[in-house]
Order: sequence, then structure tokens, then C-alpha cells
Amino acid sequence: MTARERIVAADKARVWHPYAPMDEYLASDPLVVARAEGAWLYDVDGRAYLDANASWWTSVLGHRHPRLVAALTSQLAQLDHCALAGITHAPAAELAEALLARSPGMSRIFYVDDGSTAVEAAIKLSVQHARQTGRPGRHKLVTLGDSVHGDTVGAASVSGVEVFRRPFGAILFETIRVDVSSPAREGWARAFAQLSDVVRRDADAIAAVILEPVVQGAAGMLIYPPELLREARRATAEHDVTLILDEVFTGYGRTGAFWASEHAGVSADLVCTAKGFSGGMLPMGAVLATERIFDAFRGARDRAFYYGHSFTGNPLGAAVGREVLRVFDDERVLEGVAPRTARIRATFERLGRRGGVARARSLGMVGALDLEGGGGYLAGAGWRVFDEARRRGAYLRPLGDVVYVTPSINVPLDDLDRLLAIVEESVEAALRA
Ligand SMILES: Cc1ncc(COP(=O)(O)O)c(C=O)c1O
Repeated sequence: MTARERIVAADKARVWHPYAPMDEYLASDPLVVARAEGAWLYDVDGRAYLDANASWWTSVLGHRHPRLVAALTSQLAQLDHCALAGITHAPAAELAEALLARSPGMSRIFYVDDGSTAVEAAIKLSVQHARQTGRPGRHKLVTLGDSVHGDTVGAASVSGVEVFRRPFGAILFETIRVDVSSPAREGWARAFAQLSDVVRRDADAIAAVILEPVVQGAAGMLIYPPELLREARRATAEHDVTLILDEVFTGYGRTGAFWASEHAGVSADLVCTAKGFSGGMLPMGAVLATERIFDAFRGARDRAFYYGHSFTGNPLGAAVGREVLRVFDDERVLEGVAPRTARIRATFERLGRRGGVARARSLGMVGALDLEGGGGYLAGAGWRVFDEARRRGAYLRPLGDVVYVTPSINVPLDDLDRLLAIVEESVEAALRA
């Protein structure tokens, strides 16, 4: 048995994979990743693959950025972990200062483990905030169409993609969902107008509106005009309804600005962040809050936010998260987005004009296309492109019939050009077959 065969045998006998139909997985010949560096994953046999989705959108500065590796190892030599309940440490305090300094309107940070727990915490914060500001009847959440905010029960309750919700319908809590009838501009405009109407009409029952700003990621990289976000901010502010912006996917430069909300010039009451927050190196996230929200949790003991995870504020994650921000500054990462965006846009515009592609779109470091035929998340079409890309040296996991790239924000231009060429060749090959 080769090393690869041994790993695959052990894995197939024991490991239950996320978001994977297991019969298909068990019949497959999986990638076995041994090493990663920059934009590349290397398998156990030394074959290299461009990481087209930055490992589920986390690795915003590329894999094993030397400065993040150094920050992690130097922190590990000092303090691995300690609880954050009423005691503190330098990484938690310093990361808080640095991240809040670049988050207009936000003044407090609550650490969590990942994107889903950021959303869970934000939901609870909004409901407890309403209660502690004398409005206990405000406990509903308003969500938009096919949003995806994570997989824990609370996060799934405010998410809309039917195939992910269906098995759990009986235990998810009720939300007010505003559907988006079409991905065209008018569809989005109608949905946001309806969302504002709902807020105006039902404000007395609503704790918060939760939105993915500008791009709905897992729904299929759906991009909407930023000005619509301003409309949602106006309606929520008028009626003192908390606005939660879920920047778990869109934050840390993904759309070209550090926060996607900057495209609209709006500032939320609560911001959820994870993924790029720790450069994709460790599972960690946070909720940012305004001082106004924080104030409602001061005073008597029973007003505290009784919430936290074992690893809340983990020093290793926080030290890496602090270094991520330094790298963004020192390496002027956001300034490098424009030439990368232009390349992604040109490729996806070209692909959008091709037969077999229903539509294409791009924004910042996101490029996506829908293959004709529909079928949504369970469609097989994207997987044919995946197979072609794998043969050509890229890991290009689709979202059903949506083929997309979300490489690291600082992906070297040569690697990006190679990736985009593979995407074009793979779409061509899959559609020819
Ligand atoms: C917008 C958004 N929010 C929350 C989550 C959940 O994050 P995590 O997978 O870290 O729990 C995701 C995951 O893709 C996401 O895209």
C-alpha cells in the first residue's frame, strides 16, 4: 500500500465529510492534500493544485503566509490558551484595538469560534438587546431570500437555501423571510423595498434584520447593488431595529474593500466576521458591536451576555488575527486588488458570452457563472467542470451549477492568470463533453 492508499482507506472507513453525499464520496478518488503554500495545495504525490476558493474562503493571504506562521509559533511559545471570562491577554486586547480601528461605527468586539457562532451570538445579542431596552416583544429576525449564515440551529434558522434547511424545518425558529424573485437588478430592488416595508410595518415584533452585504456567497455568489444596503440601513435606523451585517464571507477584502459595507457607506449595529479574520489559519471569529448595543448589557448582573465558548478569544487565533491586519497594511493588500479584479472580470465576462453559460458576474475577488440547465445546489454540471479543473491542476469546487473563483486576495498575478486559464479551459471542456 502506498501512503496515499493508506490514508484514503482509513478516511473512507471512518471520516464523515461535510457537505458531501457520502456514496459519491466513497466511490470517488479524493484529493489527498499533504502541504499548502500561497495559492497552492500539494497532494501526497507532490502534484500541485491552485486553491480556487482559498479553502472555503478562509485563506485570504494565501496558505502559510510566513508572517502568520511566525506570529502563531511565537504566540505558542508564550501562551496556548486560557479562558477569556473576566481575565484577559495581550492578543485579545491588541486585536480588538486594531480591528475596531478599521471598522467605522464599531467599538466593541465579542470573540467566537467561527462564522456560524458569530451569527448565533449576533442573533442572541439582538434579542437580548431589545429585551433590555424595554422592548421584549421584539424577538423576530428578518432575512433575505437565499441567504446562508451558517449551520448551527440559530444560523440555519436565518438562512434560506431550501436544500440545507429541509431536514431541520421542524426545529428551526420562525423568521420573516423576504424572497428575491429574480437575480436581476429589479428583483433585488423589489426585495429590498419589501424588506423596508416589513421593517416599517412590523418593527414592534422585530429584533434584527440580518444581511450578507453586497454578495450572498453560498447561495451562489449573488451580487446586488450596494445602494440597496443603504435603504435597509435607513429603514432599520428609522425604527430602531438592529442591523446585523454578516461579513463572514465578504469581509477582509473579498469584494475589494476591507468590509463590503464600505461599498454602500453604511455602518451596522452588529458585524459578524470569521474566515479571513484569522487568515484561514485557525477557527476563530467575532461579533463587532456599537457602543449603543454594548451599553444595554451594562448594569446589574442579570443584564450580562451569558454566552461564550471554550475557545472564545483563543490567544493563538487572536495573535494570528492581529498579524493578518498588519500584513494587510504592510503589504498594501487592498491596493493590489484592482489588477486582480480586472483579470477576474475579463475572464467571467468572456465566459458569460459563451453558449452553455446562462449568466456570469464578478466583484472584487469573486468571479462566478451559472451553467445553463438549472438544478441549483444538487445539480451535477459544476462537478464536471471540477473534474476537468482537477486534471489541469486546480481545486475548483462548485456550488451546484455555479462555477466560481474566490482566490486569496493577494494571489500572485501569475497564479491568478493560470487559475483563470484553467477555469476557461475546464468550462469549455465540460460543455463540449
Ligand atoms: C456569510 C456566511 N456567514 C456564516 C457562515 C458560517 O461560517 P462557518 O462555516 O465558519 O461556521 C458562512 C459560511 O460559509 C457564510 O458564508
